[in-house]
Amino acid sequence: LWLAVGIRRRQPGEPAVENGFIPYLGCALQFGANPLQFLRSRQRKYGHIFTCKIAGKYIHFLCDPFSYHAVIRQGRHLDWRKFHFATSVKAFGHDSFDPRHGHTTENLHQTFLKTLQGEALPSLIETMMGHLQDVMLRSDTLSPSTDRWEVDGIFAFCYKVMFESGYLTLFGKELGEDKSQARQAAQKALVLNALENFKEFDKIFPALVAGLPIHVFKSAYSARENLAKTMHAEKLSRRQNVSDLIAMRMLLNDSLSTFNDLSKARTHVALLWASQANTLPATFWSLFYMIRSPDAMKAARAEVQKVLESSGQTADPSDPRLTLTREQLDNMPVLDSIIKEAMRLSSASMNVRVAKEDFLLHLDNQEAYHIRKDDVIALYPPMLHYDPEIYEDPYEYKFDRFLDENGQEKATFFRGGRRLRYFYMPFGSGVTKCPGRFFAIHEIKQFLTLVLVYFDMELLDSAVKVPPLDQSRAGLGILQPSYDVDFRYKLQSRQ
Ligand code: HEM
Repeated sequence: LWLAVGIRRRQPGEPAVENGFIPYLGCALQFGANPLQFLRSRQRKYGHIFTCKIAGKYIHFLCDPFSYHAVIRQGRHLDWRKFHFATSVKAFGHDSFDPRHGHTTENLHQTFLKTLQGEALPSLIETMMGHLQDVMLRSDTLSPSTDRWEVDGIFAFCYKVMFESGYLTLFGKELGEDKSQARQAAQKALVLNALENFKEFDKIFPALVAGLPIHVFKSAYSARENLAKTMHAEKLSRRQNVSDLIAMRMLLNDSLSTFNDLSKARTHVALLWASQANTLPATFWSLFYMIRSPDAMKAARAEVQKVLESSGQTADPSDPRLTLTREQLDNMPVLDSIIKEAMRLSSASMNVRVAKEDFLLHLDNQEAYHIRKDDVIALYPPMLHYDPEIYEDPYEYKFDRFLDENGQEKATFFRGGRRLRYFYMPFGSGVTKCPGRFFAIHEIKQFLTLVLVYFDMELLDSAVKVPPLDQSRAGLGILQPSYDVDFRYKLQSRQ
């Protein structure tokens, strides 16, 4: 009978199994309602590792941070590609990037490292800084003034500014030398359409990852395809200042893959999504918590002022041309801590590996567990991020939590007197760690720097409560707020 309804029984040496009450879905609903609470309660019952059936899959949750290493290091028993490539194919509809499937020989992982890190980073940062200032001050996206407060939602504000700037940084502008008003308007419409389509598609992203077919969601499907239409090679080739990331992917799509034009375009949609979906809510939480904490604002302003002074720059909204080098951005520990702390409280990305074969997983406490081929092993970083033994008062935002006594980056955290190797994981871990993480942190720092030097900002309600996290994306990255929070801003007047 157990077999007939697809329920697994625990075998000797395996982690405890929780099948849940509902066939197929298993524990999905309990997990989905409040993942952290669900996992904590099972941890209390079963210990460091246990198995849950979620949406047809058996997932082993490993909860002991000192044992994370066993999963994160690239062991021969564990596969990361299977899960990642399959997820991208399901959501974006391109052909598989798994070289074992024979559609491409590109090493996508290498492409990402080469075009998002190291030597590729300075030009991404420089381009982003220009676009951010254009969008905030030169275009009609915001049109702020010195004598009138503008009211907006913080999320809405971050969305507009970061989406447009990030989109143009990656995909370039169609303008060329033609700066006519008509051209500008067409360019603006392209970005606004992309934003609307992105939003529509992003709404149903969790459902796609859970395995629902995109055809069920008519408007999200057409939104995704509309985005793809704007990213066909002949459209992209008309753009100037396309990032290395996209230029290189176009080249490798053409030279190493058998993808058709549509599949190629969809690979670019996947990158648009990867570059925006987490950055937008991360920017929201950073700005929200910063504005809400007078101490954070004060420390951030002082840091930004210092950096500008040391490079001999003054902010002038009528000629917005501030630049910050990578070294200067790397030397802003206060903003770094403000962002890190905001992401500690809002990130919920699950780290996943698939067992290539039956094997024995060794934990830090010398216990070992049998894992079956094709089972999934998952780490859920909020279990670290909200652990009161690692982070005192874990539900509180403390902007300086990641600063040491000298005001520099704090990088040592302990649990039970033992130093932790893994204590902060919004970007994933090991080989699947987000390749865009340096750019992501830099662009949020740039954004915060610019709003601090150009604008006065206030919450409409200074005692506003922190909006709850929207748990519908638990497992997928930075969670969005359940609702937006209003603030007002105006251009700083210069004496
Ligand atoms: C993958 C987080 C911004 C590009 C990921 C993953 C996470 C993540 C958790 C998956 C890791 C895993 O599956 O284990 C974030 C966060 C961001 C951010 C929190 C912002 C705060 C960016 C940006 C870019 C980017 C700005 C590019 C411009 C990518 C790519 C992947 C990825 C290409 C797929 C890597 C692969 O499959 O090999 N990101 N990300 N991310 N991210 Fe980010």
